[in-house]
Amino acid sequence: MIRAVVRGIGHYLPQRVVTNQDFEKTLDTSDEWIRTRTGICQRHFASDGEKTSDMAVSAAREAIETSGVSPNDIDLIVLATSTPDQTFPSTATKVQAELGMCQGFAFDIQAVCAGFIYALANANALLTARQARRALVIGAETFSHILDMRDRSTCILFGDGAGAVLLEAQDQAGGRQDRGILSSEIRSDGRHRHLLYVDGGVSTTQTSGFIRMNGPEIFRHAVEKLAESSAMAMQKAGLTRKDVDLMVPHQANLRIIHATAKRLGFPHEKIITTVDKHGNTSAASIPLALYDAQKCGKLREGQIVISNAIGGGLTWGSIALRW
Ligand code: UT7
Repeated sequence: MIRAVVRGIGHYLPQRVVTNQDFEKTLDTSDEWIRTRTGICQRHFASDGEKTSDMAVSAAREAIETSGVSPNDIDLIVLATSTPDQTFPSTATKVQAELGMCQGFAFDIQAVCAGFIYALANANALLTARQARRALVIGAETFSHILDMRDRSTCILFGDGAGAVLLEAQDQAGGRQDRGILSSEIRSDGRHRHLLYVDGGVSTTQTSGFIRMNGPEIFRHAVEKLAESSAMAMQKAGLTRKDVDLMVPHQANLRIIHATAKRLGFPHEKIITTVDKHGNTSAASIPLALYDAQKCGKLREGQIVISNAIGGGLTWGSIALRW
């Protein structure tokens, strides 16, 4: 059977680092509050003129390089973002052109913080259906542009960045030892869309708007839904919690990550966290965490990984894969 196997990974973080202490200068907040409630110590913000596509291209180039393929060996780009360069065309087509790719197809996915899970699930479906052979799956965001810097309950949470993985369709035996994506579970429930949204848009205000969030309600949904969908992805892949080597979750809040892991029965040493360094980079957070985990030697070929994420919509989901 065909599996979508990870061949390479890349990342990009803007140079500008904003610390919690920087927010103390302009807001009624403290480093202590931010650290204890979220686990965040700092985040990166894009510089003036630095666009989502610029970050996506940098991450994609590194993923291509580490894969040892050339851009024209790639025939699919799925780019998850809620902060595209323009309303249209898609940021994915811009990345395609910047990489010098003149074949295949490219499109954006908008599932907010669950975007990378949605993108992986969709790329996996296209690769296993033989619609493409190699896919760049990218999460890239400039959330700093949609933050209301006077709203202390949201602006301290988010950061900018991009991550990318290169997936290749490979023939595998179809067993549990296969590398690649083993299962996916994606969900949404639009009844909860008022809990996390942007108060602008083309057909409403003709502005891009700012993030608004009911944090405690999102927190409650997050732990329940992330644990449930991860358990479902594991079940679909025939895995028990003991088979899982690492949980690489969306990085929104350390307390959410730990509470989810506790429900799933994963000890802290199996959890990858980057929220302290990156904040919540929405669709970019999982590939950035995968990159970090691989770089520091915690994520190695052959290991079983569970990733999960939840975002505005609500949208949520989980992926089980063998790295
Ligand atoms: O990635 C997409 C999904 N998003 C998430 O997963 C985020 C989920 N939610 C959360 O992470 C948490 O709910 C937050 C970090 C956003 C908030 O933490 P919390 O423990 O739920 O705090 P809270 O909203 O209940 O606020 C507690 C208090 C409030 O003051 P009062 O009403 O108790 O006097 C807030 O006004 O903390 C206050 N507060 C702050 N204080 C200092 C809110 N933001 C801040 C701040 N600094 N930045």
